[in-house]
Amino acid sequence: MAAFKDETLEKLEFLEAEVIGLLKRAGKDKKSDFRLMQVATAGKDMMPQVRTVVMRELNNDPFSVGFHCDIRSEKIKNFRENPVAQLHFWSKGKSLQIRLIVQVRLITEASGSIFEEKLSKCSAKELLLYESSLPPREHLAEHESKVDVITNKNNIRSNFVWVDCRVRQMEILHLGRPAHTRALIDYQKEQRTFIKS
Ligand SMILES: Cc1cc2nc3c(=O)[nH]c(=O)nc-3n(C[C@H](O)[C@H](O)[C@H](O)COP(=O)(O)O)c2cc1C
Repeated sequence: MAAFKDETLEKLEFLEAEVIGLLKRAGKDKKSDFRLMQVATAGKDMMPQVRTVVMRELNNDPFSVGFHCDIRSEKIKNFRENPVAQLHFWSKGKSLQIRLIVQVRLITEASGSIFEEKLSKCSAKELLLYESSLPPREHLAEHESKVDVITNKNNIRSNFVWVDCRVRQMEILHLGRPAHTRALIDYQKEQRTFIKS
């Protein structure tokens, strides 16, 4: 697997810009394949956990993506112990896999105006999720399974958390013929590697 030389860097930058553009559009387009992403975390117990969430937003400067979730969820427990994640995207149509290694920052009610901004962008339907008195995946005894969940609008602000994911590394894999293309971009080291394999 030969790494490309300087003269191909231009192409890599083109590929990078294209991928960032696709992800940015996914933040607005519900039909985009990249709208859903898998978030892999590991807390102190070192047990990997993966789940699907909706990618809500991409910012270019600094390069970050965001999603929202319930502050009582397992992923938040993981982030408090270990504030990193890997985000995974796949588009069959584009034969494209994207993996992002991110540093996580939790934006809660205590974060002030940025929290208000994120909350204000959510629809009433999205916010309904955060009204529940029950944490996500709360285990109920069998006899409780039909229990009425108590909801209260006052719960929203304390249950809602915005997860800001600052991108440290991006790996792009395009499955093509005759060769696959793999690019690794390290934003901390400002290194870009391009491989055809
Ligand atoms: C299509 C789809 C979209 C989802 N979107 C979100 C989301 O945007 N935020 C979220 O917290 N959970 C979302 N979930 C639920 C998560 O996958 C997960 O079950 C939940 O967040 C609890 O995960 P945890 O206990 O590992 O924290 C989504 C699930 C599916 C299947």
